[in-house]
Amino acid sequence: MSTAHSRVALVTGAGSGIGRAIVDRLADEGATVLLTDLPHVIDSLDTTALPPGVETHALDVQDATSRGAVIDTITERHGKLDILVNCAGVGRDARLTNIKDEDLAFTLNINLFGAFSLIRRALPLMKAARGGAIVNIASRAWLGIFGSGAYSASKGGLIGATRSLALEVGELGITANCIAPGYIATPLSATLPHEVLDKTLRSIPVHRGGVPEDIAATVRHLALEGSYMTGQVLTVCGGRSIGDPTSR
Ligand SMILES: NC(=O)c1ccc[n+]([C@@H]2O[C@H](COP(=O)([O-])OP(=O)(O)OC[C@H]3O[C@@H](n4cnc5c(N)ncnc54)[C@H](O)[C@@H]3O)[C@@H](O)[C@H]2O)c1
Repeated sequence: MSTAHSRVALVTGAGSGIGRAIVDRLADEGATVLLTDLPHVIDSLDTTALPPGVETHALDVQDATSRGAVIDTITERHGKLDILVNCAGVGRDARLTNIKDEDLAFTLNINLFGAFSLIRRALPLMKAARGGAIVNIASRAWLGIFGSGAYSASKGGLIGATRSLALEVGELGITANCIAPGYIATPLSATLPHEVLDKTLRSIPVHRGGVPEDIAATVRHLALEGSYMTGQVLTVCGGRSIGDPTSR
């Protein structure tokens, strides 16, 4: 495995929220980081605000040509990949009893299929790095959440697939883990109705909502220090997975 300063990282869905914080954190550690997101998001980025060592590239994880193009670019520029963080995610949801097939397919395609197709495409480059870390951003919703069945299914699938992957790539020195965030303040969670958000915030044992940097710190650990941890799901939710301290 390379030293922190020579590591090359790819982060998907990194134009905003959690992904952007992960890019900043890995760049702070001296890694070269490819910040990727949908083309219109990349085009609207203020590149002057990016830390040193960050390169941008359009990547729609649903699209095989786009996945191939970003891997080809990393091959040409760097010849290896040490860290892959699958953070791109969407939640287009309704009760499973009435969700439209196209919304189910859209959610699974981005959150599950896109992530794993990219991993398959990236593995030869990670082998070239002689070890590395794959970190998939799942969600606490994988345990089941009312009205979000498609999202839960996509994140549960991501966790199952990551555990199987860990068994396959361990001998290559590559770890594969998931992070399951609870509530984190980002554009995605800003779509929660007010009353749901209030109730959620009151139920978090550490008495605050999460911020993207909370997840970035966990990615940093898994990517740079976690070589004996693989196939795991780290729940980062301010203790909410233990229970709700207000319901005594
Ligand atoms: N915010 C939370 O409370 C929370 C909780 C649990 C899990 N998560 C997960 O964290 C990840 C990041 O979410 P966030 O809260 O930062 O949301 P966000 O909306 O700020 O970021 C998601 C990013 O994914 C990008 N994206 C969407 N479709 C894409 C595609 N086809 N290809 C590439 N990029 C695409 C978006 O453009 C966006 O920049 C997601 O996987 C989400 O499911 C978030």
